[in-house]
Amino acid sequence: MLEVSQLCYNSNGQAIVDDLTLSIGKQEIHAIIGANGTGKTTLAYLVMGIYSPFTGSVFFEGEDITACSVSERAQKGITLAWQDPARFEGLKVGEYLKLSNKNGSRAIEDCLSMVGLLPSQFLNRSVDENLSGGERRRVELAAVLAMQPKLAILDEVDSGIDMASLPYIMQGVSAMKSQGSSVLLITHTKDALDIADRASLLCGGKVLQTGSPEEMSQWFGDHCVICNHINVPEEGSA
Ligand SMILES: Nc1ncnc2c1ncn2[C@@H]1O[C@H](COP(=O)(O)OP(=O)(O)OP(=O)(O)O)[C@@H](O)[C@H]1O
Ligand SMILES: [Mg+2]
Repeated sequence: MLEVSQLCYNSNGQAIVDDLTLSIGKQEIHAIIGANGTGKTTLAYLVMGIYSPFTGSVFFEGEDITACSVSERAQKGITLAWQDPARFEGLKVGEYLKLSNKNGSRAIEDCLSMVGLLPSQFLNRSVDENLSGGERRRVELAAVLAMQPKLAILDEVDSGIDMASLPYIMQGVSAMKSQGSSVLLITHTKDALDIADRASLLCGGKVLQTGSPEEMSQWFGDHCVICNHINVPEEGSA
């Protein structure tokens, strides 16, 4: 479904993503874990086309999409749920979900229910600063469900979600898989790893290892937290 090959992305002369290679199969939930500042969001932007790689390529369904724009990638079925989703003054949740559900094939009420938000309470709320951070993330996830993309890139949709609501988020992500989507699931939580098929550990802009979620969680604890991460200043540097 998605093949990312030897991607490099630099900013201010620093390698943010460095020779990164990754593949995601059809209907696979592939978790991306790694310390803060290790390049997860940058990878999401490179796959979505918000950033262009310095070198390397992105293939989607066998087609080289490295030179494709964000909107071309969206048309091909890739969507991104942002780490900090935008607020839209004056737009109601119901309208926002309808915009996402262009072919009308899925009831927007179901999409809200799937992420644990009561349609009667939320359909007429505005997508503005009156939604709490966690509610806004859940609305974003409901919008991705409504969109039914081929590939959903979810950048920490589970962060800032209370413990009681986390199962709904995971239920929403699992529902994406059941409805045929592949998911690139960027996360810091154990709950998200539990629903993933495979996981990759990112460190210093590289994939350090790919394996089962349990294995990678263990690797993260044993190797990455203590490694000489690019954003941890080296001893003696100012
Ligand atoms: N446009 C930019 N200009 C300069 N540095 C950048 C830019 N974008 C990202 N960075 C840096 O690149 C590194 C990777 O950032 P990125 O946002 O991809 O990390 P992340 O793994 O998503 O972290 P987190 O877990 O905190 O969300 C960080 O050190 C960040 O400060
Ligand atoms: Mg990030």
